[in-house]
Amino acid sequence: MLLDGKVALVTGASRGIGAATARLFARHGARVAVNYNRSEDAAREVVRLVEKEGGIAVAVGADVTERGQAEAMVRAVERTLGPVDVLVANAGMRVHMAPFVGYPWEELEAKLTGEAKAVFFVVQAVVPSMIERRAGSIVVVSSGLSRHPGDGFCAHSAAKAALDALVRAMAHELGPQGIRVNTVAPGLTLTDATAFLPEPAKEAAARRTPLRRNAVPEDVAGAILVLAADTARHVTGAYLPVDGGTVMP
Ligand SMILES: NC(=O)c1ccc[n+]([C@@H]2O[C@H](COP(=O)([O-])OP(=O)(O)OC[C@H]3O[C@@H](n4cnc5c(N)ncnc54)[C@H](OP(=O)(O)O)[C@@H]3O)[C@@H](O)[C@H]2O)c1
Repeated sequence: MLLDGKVALVTGASRGIGAATARLFARHGARVAVNYNRSEDAAREVVRLVEKEGGIAVAVGADVTERGQAEAMVRAVERTLGPVDVLVANAGMRVHMAPFVGYPWEELEAKLTGEAKAVFFVVQAVVPSMIERRAGSIVVVSSGLSRHPGDGFCAHSAAKAALDALVRAMAHELGPQGIRVNTVAPGLTLTDATAFLPEPAKEAAARRTPLRRNAVPEDVAGAILVLAADTARHVTGAYLPVDGGTVMP
């Protein structure tokens, strides 16, 4: 029970890594806010599964790239569950994959601002209460592509690298207030976001990892839990790859 008595907010928790994180957190005793944007039914199903296991969860709708919605979501969570102890900024923006030469600037700009807004607004909404209580843990979900490029992923790499820098800046400034901020960087994880990849590409990626398989959402959720919980109480500004050992920093 690594999060007993804590309130956790997981953005983009209706599906994939966020949904697995919300469920794992609830199993570890957290009262969990399951954020969704478009997939309300899927978020309600996550809540139902948590409750079936005896946990406490609520679904909260918000487009986290909209400051007003992110703030309203945090206030609603505070009213229903209490102040947020743990924030997982996981919601990821759609990416247009294409070679750098000829890459549309509008797509790069949308990805850069979308990923940044999805973290910036929700973190700014939760930190005042964390500062008051001099405690809090924030985990941002980046990508292995933030440090290691992949064909067609220039926008994704640039946007996630900006998040990594933001995490270091936040860890630096918020550490003295008792708040930890860390990054989890998944490798290829089998979710809706990667369902478009042909099987041979996924198999080749799995062969490149020392552990010889691609991640499932629960693998990433486990690493998020470790950083989110007080077990990692002296860890901040860290970048944790969750990629089966593909990259060894
Ligand atoms: N899968 C991978 O291989 C992989 C690798 C590296 C990093 N990542 C990162 O891991 C995170 C989760 O990815 P995933 O693969 O689990 O994605 P996914 O299965 O496609 O799910 C995406 C989630 O993000 C939510 N979301 C999207 N836009 C949102 C917005 N504006 N406001 C609130 N929620 C929003 C979606 O909510 P709705 O459906 O309700 O709209 C959904 O719950 C992302 O940050 C992604 O970049 C994934």
